[in-house]
Amino acid sequence: MGIDARSVEETYQLMQPKLQKLMPDFEIRAKAELAFEITKLKKARGAVILGHNYMEAALYNSVPDFVGDSLELSRKAAKTESNPIVFCGVRFMAETAKILNPDKTVLLPAAKAGCSLASSITAADVRKLRAEYPGIPIVTYINTYADVKAEVDICCTSANASKVVESLKSDTVIFLPDEYLARNVAAETGKQVFFPESLKKSALTTIGKSQQNMIAWHGRCEVHEKFSVEDITAIRKQFPDVCVLTHPECSPEVVAASDFSASTSRMVEFVKTSNAPHFLILTECSMADNIIAENPHKDILRLCSIRCPHMNEITLQDTLDCLKYDRYVVDVPKEIRDRARRSLERMLEVH
Ligand code: 13P
Ligand code: SF4
Repeated sequence: MGIDARSVEETYQLMQPKLQKLMPDFEIRAKAELAFEITKLKKARGAVILGHNYMEAALYNSVPDFVGDSLELSRKAAKTESNPIVFCGVRFMAETAKILNPDKTVLLPAAKAGCSLASSITAADVRKLRAEYPGIPIVTYINTYADVKAEVDICCTSANASKVVESLKSDTVIFLPDEYLARNVAAETGKQVFFPESLKKSALTTIGKSQQNMIAWHGRCEVHEKFSVEDITAIRKQFPDVCVLTHPECSPEVVAASDFSASTSRMVEFVKTSNAPHFLILTECSMADNIIAENPHKDILRLCSIRCPHMNEITLQDTLDCLKYDRYVVDVPKEIRDRARRSLERMLEVH
């Protein structure tokens, strides 16, 4: 992927068919100019651009060499030979690329690009849990910062969370920090969810012996927690044959009211291969735009009043400036990097 054109006009010609349903022509032309500049600079510098599925449609459909979900982009980051790596996504994703490529320069086009899940837990919180529940394996969702990854046994993404939990072969696991993902994975793996504050150590010892448990945390995705069963009910009323797709960061009630729930890339794939008359995409609205661009003859609904402000910090202009001025360089101290790398590599070994 990644447009390889010799002029702005050629870039525009390649972008236009994908974007024509999403934005006016003058906007496609303006974005094609930026995309052409970025591609020239990318080649001149030997850079690779990785783009998450949530990137806005003009960026997603022009400059990234690879697009995908967190797991796919981690695998690409682990294999790339290119340097620098420009990560069009949020900070924890760029940090992951740095951990897997300590000798390369990793650039994030925005200064912050945070994530409500990543900021919901600290390394000290994990150390406290480890001390309270010794011997219980700790899994963290990849949506965390490097210092948290450094304290756990293994990472997971929305694409492999259940597999990772099962790979641990432990009755009880600690699953951090997304409460809803934990509940959804617990339902899939037959575990019962508890929270540290409601769990006396003596109770865990008793429960732990007799059944499958998951100790979770109260982190939430500020985007997916906003989708409701009422939204789905209202849309099903208007479009009775709509097929509803949700991300597993949504509440278990929302997931249960949907027809399909999986990682962002599996949602993209599902729409491509399904013949449903209408689809409702309950995740970041830009991804629904990207699905529309890919499937112009399918009827796609989305709720664009609910957005991820962090993913939306990344623009084509920022990506150009990032390559021009080497900003913002993502660094992770060696001591943290080495331990976080083990948790990520363990995850990448789970198939
Ligand atoms: P995916 O790994 O499914 O792409 O999800 C990343 C994310 O941040 C969803 O909000
Ligand atoms: Fe984080 Fe939610 Fe944004 Fe994904 S959508 S980056 S989980 S805040």
